[in-house]
Amino acid sequence: MAKATRRAIYVCQACGHTESRWLGRCPQCGEWNALVEEAAPTAPRAPAAERRAAAQPIAIDQVADADPERRLATRIGELDRVLGGGLVAGSLVLLGGEPGIGKSTLLLQALRGIAEQGARVLYVTGEESAAQTAMRARRVGAVHPNISLLAETHLERILAAARAAAPAVLAVDSIQTLHTELLESIPGSVGQVRDCTARLLGYAKSEHVPTILVGHVTKDGAIAGPKTLEHVVDAVLQFEGEGASPYRVLRASKNRFGSTQELGVFEMAAGGLAEVVNPSELFLAERTAGAPGSVVVASAEGTRPILVEVQALVAPPSAGVGRRTAAGVDGNRVSLLLAVLAQRAGCDVISQDVFVNVAGGVRLAEPAIDLGVACAVASSARGRAVDPRTVVFGEVGLAGEVRAVHLAELRLAEAAKLGFTRAIVPAHNAKRLDGTPALELVPVRHVDQALDAL
Ligand code: TYD
Ligand code: MG
Repeated sequence: MAKATRRAIYVCQACGHTESRWLGRCPQCGEWNALVEEAAPTAPRAPAAERRAAAQPIAIDQVADADPERRLATRIGELDRVLGGGLVAGSLVLLGGEPGIGKSTLLLQALRGIAEQGARVLYVTGEESAAQTAMRARRVGAVHPNISLLAETHLERILAAARAAAPAVLAVDSIQTLHTELLESIPGSVGQVRDCTARLLGYAKSEHVPTILVGHVTKDGAIAGPKTLEHVVDAVLQFEGEGASPYRVLRASKNRFGSTQELGVFEMAAGGLAEVVNPSELFLAERTAGAPGSVVVASAEGTRPILVEVQALVAPPSAGVGRRTAAGVDGNRVSLLLAVLAQRAGCDVISQDVFVNVAGGVRLAEPAIDLGVACAVASSARGRAVDPRTVVFGEVGLAGEVRAVHLAELRLAEAAKLGFTRAIVPAHNAKRLDGTPALELVPVRHVDQALDAL
């Protein structure tokens, strides 16, 4: 690593105490592992600087809207939608995900989309050699003369190269591999990751170049991972997948320039990531109709309805007490629904082992899937299959009541399009529907009624 040219200090992240060397515990507040290396501040010259450069406030009604025309589309529809319509000039975007999920692949394909519009882009790789990256680019068809590669981890050299090349987009893969010579700590440490990100932010803003950073997260959202960066960057995109499933879901957990509700779905294939334009069809393709414990839920992520199969399996307890395993849905929510089923709907599986899974590897976070989860569990517990042409949605409250959800029309339209003929819906939604739905509605007020209807 390059020799430090400036003295670094260690700052406690809990109380702000500074030390000249790293300590495991802050001597001031006693917090463990809270000292992080930072570049020592230069001598304060604030008053003079303030007089010289008085900033100009501007009346709020005089502020022009950010120009939507300035967005740079990646031509990957699923990605552009999650971004809010493309990359905004000068924005800093963090693309996070577990190692191996496909971040580098997505990035290369996005850069290709931009390069094909005639813009020059710079891809900085600190993880792989230029040869390895070029090989991957060939595999996914992302070889284009407008894409330049730089295999480099030294931040100062990267910034100098970017200023010289003046690309339309800068991509850095990954932030954990970078190091600045201002700090002595190793690449990937909190101090390095934070300082490098702050300076790339400075670059993005001053040069108006949209900059994409790749960041690794581990299962527990490890230290020095993107977690510490979330409030610095403009948008955080999370790339997720479950186990060995080829499907990948992209969502924005933060987006200053768009909604955080949108969802992009991809499939990892031999030639890179393929967009999944109609996820419902795909998620339902492998369904074994007529099996107990399987219920199709009309979910909606952002403005987009997605039908998924929720599977439940109720089995005698293997370890004396009932265990719960949930994949794709929140485990706490499942526990709550089991309690509601037991107390309010006469379906007691509390002492049993209960497994709940969303087929296809998507993760669903909206409450409208509650009713589907409850129905799937009851269906498995009673050994009675649910009609495969019926969809279900609705939020379930603690009294077992079924509550209305948003976007009911959209969910129903998607279900009708895929050949479903009956929908079990919250009574409040059924009352307020515009127009006549293309499928038979069964309005329910209580979980009980839904189970009867099924
Ligand atoms: P990668 O983009 O390297 O993931 P990340 O940058 O998030 O670590 O891709 C990871 C996996 O994707 C890799 O194990 C192989 C697989 N893959 C394909 O299946 N097809 C492809 O065309 C490519 C490029 C990768
Ligand atoms: Mg990678």
